[in-house]
Amino acid sequence: MGTFLRVFGIILAVFIIFQFIPNKKKSNPPVDKKLEIKTPAKVASILKRSCYDCHSNETKWPWWSSVAPMSWSVVDDVVEGRKALNFSIWNSYSKEKQDKLKKGIYRTVMGPMPLPQYTWLHPEAKLTKEDIKTIRDWASDGKGFIKTDVR
Ligand code: HEC
Repeated sequence: MGTFLRVFGIILAVFIIFQFIPNKKKSNPPVDKKLEIKTPAKVASILKRSCYDCHSNETKWPWWSSVAPMSWSVVDDVVEGRKALNFSIWNSYSKEKQDKLKKGIYRTVMGPMPLPQYTWLHPEAKLTKEDIKTIRDWASDGKGFIKTDVR
């Protein structure tokens, strides 16, 4: 067997073994509309487009979320994302938690969110300047937080 075939065979074998490594499970827990966040339609459509895949129980799982090693990071982002903020159960959060998360949203839409590895594969989820303003106005009730408020 030539070197190329041998190397290719090893890579293929490793790839196949990857598929059997246990991983966190994909799931979409049931949605109770009463618990879902209520926002003006303009805000809701941005959240649904750019955040819901990781921050709701209505994740649209892409095909690569079933194929290791990509699945490891996709499923992990969703599990961790829901833990941090889940718009599907927003109304079950305390007022304090909601206020804290709104500040987090106000802060993170300026850069870190949505995650870059996500927008790379979902360019339509990128936030425009106007989207960012819409979200920040909503998150701060139109007041705008000053820098030190946002922590
Ligand atoms: C690809 C998945 C993904 C997408 C899409 C995404 N997030 Fe996140 N988000 C995460 C993960 C994972 C965490 C938790 C880990 C962390 O804090 O870094 C998180 C944490 C957060 C937090 C809490 C952490 C903090 O620093 O306050 C906020 C707020 C947040 N995201 C807002 C958003 C908003 C708003 C959007 C849409 C504009 C969005 N995210 C889109 C994955 C995502």
